[in-house]
Amino acid sequence: MSSHAVKQLIKQLTLEEKASLCSGADFWHTKPLERLGIEEWMMADGPHGLRQQPKGGDHLGITGSNPATCFPSASALASSWDRSLAAQLGEALGHEARKAELAVVLGPGINIKRSPLCGRNFEYFSEDPLLAGELATSYVNALQAQGVGTSLKHFAVNNQEHRRMSVNAVVDPRTLRELYLSAFERVVKKAQPWTVMCSYNRLNGDYCSENHWLLTEVLRNEWGFSGVVVSDWGAVNERAAGVAAGLELEMPGGNDRDGLIVKAVREGKLDEAVLDTAVERLLALYFNTREATEPLEFSADQHHQLARRIAADSMVLLKNHHNVLPLAEASEVAVIGEFAKRPRYQGGGSSHVNASHVESLIEALDAAGASYRYAQGFDIDSDHTNESLSQEALALAKNAEKVVLYLGLPDRYESEGYDREHLDLPRNQVELLKALSEVNQQIIVVLANGAPVVMPWIEQAAAVLESHLGGQAVGAAVADVLFGKRNPSGKLSESYPAALEQTPCFNHFATPARPNNSDRVDYAEGLLVGYRYYDTQQIEPQFPFGFGLSYTRFDYANLSLSASRVGPQDTLTVAFDVTNSGERAGSEVVQLYLADQTGEISVPVHQLRGFDKVALEAGETKRIELTLERRDFAYFDVDHNDWRMPKGQFEVQIGASSRDIRLTGSVESLGDHMLPAIGRNALVGDLMAHDVTARALQKAMSATFEQNPKLKRMFGEASDDEMMQAMGRYLPLRALVSFSEGAFGESDLEVLLGHLSDALADHRAG
Ligand code: BGC
Repeated sequence: MSSHAVKQLIKQLTLEEKASLCSGADFWHTKPLERLGIEEWMMADGPHGLRQQPKGGDHLGITGSNPATCFPSASALASSWDRSLAAQLGEALGHEARKAELAVVLGPGINIKRSPLCGRNFEYFSEDPLLAGELATSYVNALQAQGVGTSLKHFAVNNQEHRRMSVNAVVDPRTLRELYLSAFERVVKKAQPWTVMCSYNRLNGDYCSENHWLLTEVLRNEWGFSGVVVSDWGAVNERAAGVAAGLELEMPGGNDRDGLIVKAVREGKLDEAVLDTAVERLLALYFNTREATEPLEFSADQHHQLARRIAADSMVLLKNHHNVLPLAEASEVAVIGEFAKRPRYQGGGSSHVNASHVESLIEALDAAGASYRYAQGFDIDSDHTNESLSQEALALAKNAEKVVLYLGLPDRYESEGYDREHLDLPRNQVELLKALSEVNQQIIVVLANGAPVVMPWIEQAAAVLESHLGGQAVGAAVADVLFGKRNPSGKLSESYPAALEQTPCFNHFATPARPNNSDRVDYAEGLLVGYRYYDTQQIEPQFPFGFGLSYTRFDYANLSLSASRVGPQDTLTVAFDVTNSGERAGSEVVQLYLADQTGEISVPVHQLRGFDKVALEAGETKRIELTLERRDFAYFDVDHNDWRMPKGQFEVQIGASSRDIRLTGSVESLGDHMLPAIGRNALVGDLMAHDVTARALQKAMSATFEQNPKLKRMFGEASDDEMMQAMGRYLPLRALVSFSEGAFGESDLEVLLGHLSDALADHRAG
């Protein structure tokens, strides 16, 4: 329906009818407007599978949702670094959603992983906004291409579960733009999600659900978002304030919520035109949801196989001492650990999917006819060592050639709704590993977890394979990687710390040992999150961002840059060769980091600005091209409330991880040519640093000296002295008055500023 027709339709609505469109009928449906033929539509979680509650079902899924494919969770998908896999997952979800007659899928979740303790990190992509933003863009575009909407969540700065519905995240504006909003900005601009879900928390004082700056000024006016903002479930504080701020749809609906909107309009507290705009957006979304409604068929088996491939290609091989992996078909393997039979393949909370078919490692090994022996080893539901399980496992391990030990975090350790208390594996699992390592040195640890664990035990393991929360086919995928059917190609999408105390916001993130029971959390670490912190401070994490091994080797060579200088309008193409110099086919994730050496503003030592995943046969070489543009060089200039490209040298780094830089090149940024502001407080050094203002200052000074010979003597002499020059750099112009012993007064300063403005005006006039 055209926007004109929607406007005409709105004219036919009563105030009550308009308000009724702004909230749900129940947990999952919008309200119909039968008089005008507007039907209800349904949404469901997201993000890695559908959690569609049957009519009358509850919010938390306790009564069970309709069976659906449970794909790997976002932390796994992100470790694939594979845009095409993210798109395939989005497309498959779109098909399932069409079959289920859903209009919107509630995902993806793209909040930045500020601390590995956040209980919901398994649902998020990365500590880096480029990686999160790029993968989510592919996911959203592909899902929406099926005629189903997405809900990009949780907007914004929802980086902890602790007190999530009341906490006030206090973040400085630059960190906010560069880190916490940047992935959202990318997805909104590149994929236009049909909806954005505002988060529960407050941001710099205001609830996100009624934050006009966030929902209207930034999201709509700056980024051009044209969809609907939906509240997280129960996130609305003041109903009318929400509408005024730019929140269109409150979920779930509640008694009398619409009445609050009607009342606010009647009392003149909410402009009806603002409500009309909200209704216009809601109706536009409604008509979008009507465009493709006939159910699409899909093959559950194909989706299971897709889940398997994504899981396999997301796994990160962290350690592989003496190439203990891959396993040979004929290996005498002991498989130990309850996770091998009872996989933990997804996280708890609103994203919990009723998986259509779960394939454990044991089932996969049986299906492949592998020869192995199994022992449970420990009890997932307890932290205490069970002696008889442990003895049984030891007996098995003693006689086995190699041991596959499947460890992980139990559900109770990480979930939506609360944060983790520490980064350790359960004690019984660590004790078992230690005991096993005393009888067998070939232990291959497979990990099932949604977020990093610390590994003080790593020396006891010959290999470590991170399998994340790998979705319903994770068992088959683990088998594929262990036996080399798939060459591992995932890389860490977040740094793995060596200890909790080492994490960047350790001092500002609540744990039972270091509680913060206030409703304020200070993002005092600023931009130094994840590798931005470890690499800048030169702290060794257990495993760095972007790290992952393969069964083959990759070499990098022949870096070339398309230019040695780039201006704001230019793009820079960075090209290099990657060679698979090993004996088997594999895929490599190549990473481009930019190190800003301009000195214009403090920056993390380097930042990810490009990546790709490249498949190479043994011996094959491919030339990779990555493109950079102005924004990749820019920082957020708080004083001008805009992005700014600094002027000076940048190092281009091509790496296999953030700590394994293989090639470097150099490029000069010409910068944005923004002139320093002229005024009493302009620093002499800043004015001198720019050709134009330097010339203007010199001209203005000589004009002023002309009129004031005493001043000329004073400053003329000082300008020859190095120390005075150095001090003068940080001298505001107004200080000339204080330091001139009366030779230069306030009126002289006015004259100087006048000369400066004239000189600049002459420059602008050309
Ligand atoms: C979660 C959202 C979810 C919604 C609906 C909320 O508690 O934070 O991510 O989409 O519930 O289940």
